[in-house]
Amino acid sequence: MPKTGTTARPAVPKKKTAKPAAAAPVTTSAKPPAAAPAGKASALEIKDTRTSNTYSVPVSEGAIRATELKKIKTDDPGDSGLMSYDPAFLNTASCRSAITYIDGDKGILRYRGYPIEQLAENATFLEVAWLLRHGELPNQQEYDRFVHEITFHTYVHENFRKFLEGFRYDAHPMAMLNSSIAGLASFYPSARNIFDETERNISIIRLLAKTPTIAAFSYRHVKGLPFVYPDNRLSYVENFLSMVARMSESKYEANPVFARALEILFILHADHEQNCSTNAVRAVGSSHVDPFSAVSAGVAALFGPLHGGANEQVLRMINEIGSVKNVPKFIETVKSGEGGRLMGFGHRVYKSYDPRAKIVKKLADEVFKVVGVDKDLEIALELERIALSDDYFTSRKLYPNVDFYTGLIYRSMAFPTDFFTVLFAIGRMPGWLAQWEEMLLDKEQKIARPRQIYIGPAERPYRSRLKPKQTL
Ligand code: ACO
Repeated sequence: MPKTGTTARPAVPKKKTAKPAAAAPVTTSAKPPAAAPAGKASALEIKDTRTSNTYSVPVSEGAIRATELKKIKTDDPGDSGLMSYDPAFLNTASCRSAITYIDGDKGILRYRGYPIEQLAENATFLEVAWLLRHGELPNQQEYDRFVHEITFHTYVHENFRKFLEGFRYDAHPMAMLNSSIAGLASFYPSARNIFDETERNISIIRLLAKTPTIAAFSYRHVKGLPFVYPDNRLSYVENFLSMVARMSESKYEANPVFARALEILFILHADHEQNCSTNAVRAVGSSHVDPFSAVSAGVAALFGPLHGGANEQVLRMINEIGSVKNVPKFIETVKSGEGGRLMGFGHRVYKSYDPRAKIVKKLADEVFKVVGVDKDLEIALELERIALSDDYFTSRKLYPNVDFYTGLIYRSMAFPTDFFTVLFAIGRMPGWLAQWEEMLLDKEQKIARPRQIYIGPAERPYRSRLKPKQTL
């Protein structure tokens, strides 16, 4: 039987006749807590059948403090108190946040209280970036200054050329982006002064300004094209498109439908509360490392196919399906488990249509009016139609997520499949930064360090299994 480790020694269950725990319970009364307002409980009563003790744990904002559970102990001196076990944080709030609100059942997404639909329709990406960080929409003066600062920090150090040129011709642009963002820390050592507001501010400006430049340079490297330097006369999105697509034109002019579509996609991706990559940024940032290093952890998390990498996988899946007539057979393989998952479907939080997916679908219609409908869009529409009428998907509340149609839009703009997640990362940057700063200024936060339940071997003596050393 494995011995329990010091970090997480599970409490030993006691018989009903066991003595009360050494640490006094919060209350041992079976009555409702006195402070409870009429008709509404403000505390949770827990009866520990190991000790027969009853505990009253305060409930606030729909949650109990997990550290309150530590007070629930047996009289075993090695019992460090009760823990909650929650792999993948299925039901654990890791912070209190004022940035993004999601109601997954109703399909609601709001940034700082503003519905995503209204922001996507009316705002610019940089307005949203400001909003996420500061909590209010910028006034004209604040906005103009912010846009100016971003515009004038888009250049990267010339050494970046050499750095990016060192990657293989077929390097995945997310691997290039991830290491380049981390590499920025080496150019700005003062960014480590994270409790200096001026330093934080300039680091945030630099990350928002330089990410599109690094992303575009990665694209050009893979294509074997010369790097295009930022053009300060252009808007954030147009400048990015210029750095990606400009050839010999003296002035680049982006297709306005593509530019607005990309701006809306960036807005839709700008934040999504405590998702995998944001959690990574917060966890790494909680060690008080510089923001470039913290955010590069977010880029790494986003690369995974279950997260931002899904938009790339949707296109690969559609290519494998090949034709509308193969869709029913493919859906059957998903249901039987042979065909893997239906990429771009399902979400940890949304148990109805992802509100972003609705906007993206409408956007796809507008973009496809310009480029024409292709067979991949027809396959996607058929996948969606069949899945939404199939009990396997409806009973599990699996609906299209934001990634289902974004890949098709990106591809119609001639972005290569490998590059889709990079576009997601540019959009998510303001959210990561706002969440990083919120975490840093939150007095309740400490270094992120979960507990564990040790299930490994008990203590055992060392006996080498290698061949005995030869003596010369
Ligand atoms: N296709 C087929 N079945 C699915 C899918 C899917 N896309 N997603 C979930 N299921 C099934 C699971 O097999 C499971 O079925 P079971 O109860 O019979 O075992 C059930 O639905 C619940 O699935 P979980 O894995 O428990 O759901 P979870 O909330 O952990 O996963 C996730 C969410 C990772 C997004 C999942 O739905 C998935 O893998 N989707 C495909 C990848 C994808 O599109 N990711 C992008 C998410 S959006 C974003 O990150 C920006």
